[in-house]
Amino acid sequence: MLQIILAFTIIISFFLFIFSLFHIIFLQKLRYCNCEICHAYLTSSWRNDFINLSDWYAHLLRRSPTSTIKVHVLNNVITANPDNVEHILKTHFHNYPKGKQFSVILGDLLGRGIFNSDGDTWRFQRKLASLELGSVSVRVFAHEIVRNEIESRLIPILSSFSTTKPAGSVLDLQDVFKRFSFDTISKLSFGFDPDCLRLPFPTSELAVAFDTASTLSAKRALAPFPLLWKIKRLLRIGSEKKLKESIDVINRLAGDLIKQRRKTGLADNNDLISRFMAVVAEDDDEYLRDIVVSFLLAGRDTVAAGLTGFFWLLTRHPKVENRIREELDRVMGTGFDSVTASSDEMRNMDYLHATLYESMRLYPPVQFDSKFSLNDDVLSDGTFVRRGTRVTYHSYAMGRMSRIWGPDYEEFKPERWLDNEGKYRPENPVKYPVFQAGARVCIGKEMAIMEMKSIAVAIIRRFETRAASPEPSEGIRFAPGLTATVNGGLPVLVQERNA
Ligand code: HEM
Repeated sequence: MLQIILAFTIIISFFLFIFSLFHIIFLQKLRYCNCEICHAYLTSSWRNDFINLSDWYAHLLRRSPTSTIKVHVLNNVITANPDNVEHILKTHFHNYPKGKQFSVILGDLLGRGIFNSDGDTWRFQRKLASLELGSVSVRVFAHEIVRNEIESRLIPILSSFSTTKPAGSVLDLQDVFKRFSFDTISKLSFGFDPDCLRLPFPTSELAVAFDTASTLSAKRALAPFPLLWKIKRLLRIGSEKKLKESIDVINRLAGDLIKQRRKTGLADNNDLISRFMAVVAEDDDEYLRDIVVSFLLAGRDTVAAGLTGFFWLLTRHPKVENRIREELDRVMGTGFDSVTASSDEMRNMDYLHATLYESMRLYPPVQFDSKFSLNDDVLSDGTFVRRGTRVTYHSYAMGRMSRIWGPDYEEFKPERWLDNEGKYRPENPVKYPVFQAGARVCIGKEMAIMEMKSIAVAIIRRFETRAASPEPSEGIRFAPGLTATVNGGLPVLVQERNA
C-alpha cells in the first residue's frame, strides 16, 4: 500500500514539475523583458552597486524624470511621486484595492485579517478597530501597558547591562525593541503577556513563528515566477514547508488564546479580542484569529523597526541626542525621579517628536506598500497602468528625493520638521506616506508614536548608548521581510548616567 502511495506521489510530482516548466518557459516568458531595469533585477546585477533593493530603487526613482519606474518582469509600477501617491491612496482609492494577487501572497498568514482584506470585510474591522484604538479607556490602557513594560522590564535590563555585566557587554537594541513591542501588542490585542523582555531573553515560539512567516511571505512577493512557490506549497517542500509549519504554530497558539478568553469571559477587558469576540459569530474562531494576527503583525515589527532606525541615527548624532536631553530636562525637570513621561509632557516634546519623524523619513518601518489596479488607469504623472498591475508607493525612496526634501535630503536633520517657534510642523502624508495616507491610513499611529516616544524618553534620560562597532562604510543592510529589519541588529554598549 505504502509503495502505491509513493509511486502515486512521484507521478503527480513529475507531472507538476513538467507543468511548471511549461508554465515558466512559455507563459511567464510573456513577461520576460530585457530592459536595463529588468535585466538588472533578474540577474541581481544591481547588487554590484547597492546593498539593498530599496537603495537601488531609490537611485532609479531619483533618476526618473517622473519619479516613477516600471519593473516589467514583476508587472510592477513603482513610484516616489507625491501626486501619484495622492492618486492611488486618495482620489482613485477605489481603483487600488489590496486585490486578489496580494491576498494570494499573504492569505495563508493573514487570512481575512484587516491587512489582507477589501470591501465589507475590511470596513467592518476598520470601523471596530478605529473605535477601539480611539477610545479614551483603551488609550489609557495602552499607556499603562507601555509604562509597566518600561519600568519593570526595559530599565532593569538596560541597567544590568550597564552595571552587572562584564565591561564591554554588547546589547542588541533591535532585539530588545522587538521583545518590548511584542509583549505590548500581545497584551493590547489578546490580554496575553508573552513575557519576552526578560533575561536571559527567552525564545518565544510565537515570536519565532511570526519572524519566519513574515520573512517567507515577503519573499513570495518578490518572486519573478510566482508559480514556483505555488508548486512548492502544493508539494509542501522547501521554504513553503517552513512557512506552513510557522503558520500552523501561529494558528495553534492564537487558537488556544481565543479558547482561553472564551472561558475567562469578556467583561472588564479592554483588549481588542474581547471587543471583536462580542460581535463576531461564536463559531468563527478562525476569523478572530485572522483579525488578531493582523494586529500583532501591525504593532510589533513596525514599532521595533522605527525605534531601531531612530537609535541607529542617534548613536551617530550626539548633538541631536543632547538637544533631546535638554528638551526632556525642560519638560520633565532635571534628575531621574521619573523616566516615563505623561501624555501632557509628551505633547510638549516637539524636538523629540520631530526627531522620530525625521528618523522614519530615512528609515521607514514599512519601506514600500503595494496595491493592484482594478481597471486600466493613468497616474497623475501620465504613467499608464494596465488592469491587474501591481502599483507600489516607495516610502523609503520618497524620504531620499531632493525633489521632495531639498538638496540636503541625505542629512539627518530634525529641524526640518520645526517651525520658527520650534513647534512640530506636520507634512502632507502623500509626501511622507510612512503611515500610509487616505482611507487606509494606519490606525495605530497615535499608539505607535506614544510607545516610541515613551521608550525614547526612558532610554535617553537614564542611559548613554553607544554603537558597539564602527559604522559599516556601506550603511545599513536590511534583511528581507514585510517590515524593515537590520541585518545583524543594533549592537550597543550601555552606560547608566549619573543623576
Ligand atoms: C511606527 C509604527 C507603525 C508604522 C510605520 C505603521 C505603518 C503602517 C502602514 C504603512 C500601513 C498600511 C499597510 C498596508 O496597507 O498594507 C499601516 C496599516 C495599519 N496599521 Fe500601522 N504602523 C505602525 C504601527 C501600528 C500599530 C502599533 C498598530 C496597532 C496597534 C497598527 C495598526 C495598523 C492597522 C490595523 C493597519 C491597517 C489599516 C487598514 O488597512 O485600514 N500600526 N500601518
